[in-house]
Amino acid sequence: MLIAHLSDFHLFTERSETGEARGDIARVLEALVADIAALAPCPDIVAISGDLADGGTPADYARLTALLAPLSMPILAVPGNHDRRGAMREGLGSRLTGLVPGPFLNARVALPGVTLLGLDTVVPGAPHGALCAERLNWLEGELASSKGTTVIVMHHPPVQTGHPHWDTFSLIEGRERFAELLAGRSVRILCGHIHQPFHTDWGAHHVGVAGSPAFEYHLTPGSIEAPCPQPVPFSYPLHHWGPQGVSVYRRHLRA
Ligand SMILES: [Fe+2]
Repeated sequence: MLIAHLSDFHLFTERSETGEARGDIARVLEALVADIAALAPCPDIVAISGDLADGGTPADYARLTALLAPLSMPILAVPGNHDRRGAMREGLGSRLTGLVPGPFLNARVALPGVTLLGLDTVVPGAPHGALCAERLNWLEGELASSKGTTVIVMHHPPVQTGHPHWDTFSLIEGRERFAELLAGRSVRILCGHIHQPFHTDWGAHHVGVAGSPAFEYHLTPGSIEAPCPQPVPFSYPLHHWGPQGVSVYRRHLRA
């Protein structure tokens, strides 16, 4: 099993909502998609943990659909705070695998030995994440029938890092109940949002945060300085199920 984890494209066609996404992000995404399409062995699935767009217009998702077209494997994606649920479902939904009907963009994909659950943590108009009772109830039901290793894909990291900016904008509402639902399990949680590659343990769980091809920070452990985009080389993680467990490889992109 091989999972390519991507996040935070911040693709925009007219105006960058954050004002920080690099202007040639479409070209970078082309190179990123070409890199994944050429991998051998091919990833079994691509998991995208939100902020696919930077404002979420219908034109953004039409462009993303075209950019992702060379990928032949399933794609599971959840929204981030710079996406728009309606436009994302309408414009990109047909290309996504396992999207669940309803008001949220949750998803479920079962592969041999692995169940991936996409969890929509968006609060419209707010930077932080939340899990309401409806989303938590959905997760509880899915966990009960999840086979093999459970991989949860969500935009907002559920962990507190000690950095005041990140911690203010992480998963805030519903975090305790989320932790309770995962008690007694060991799951892999794939997130984005903080725009810096970051891996940590959260109890018995592994939390892997993918960076962003649009703009990244370069904070050092213990720093409390305000994040400022830095010109750092971009790489993305490949989660590989080997004979002794799961390893995370980093794949650098020259773009
Ligand atoms: Fe983002």
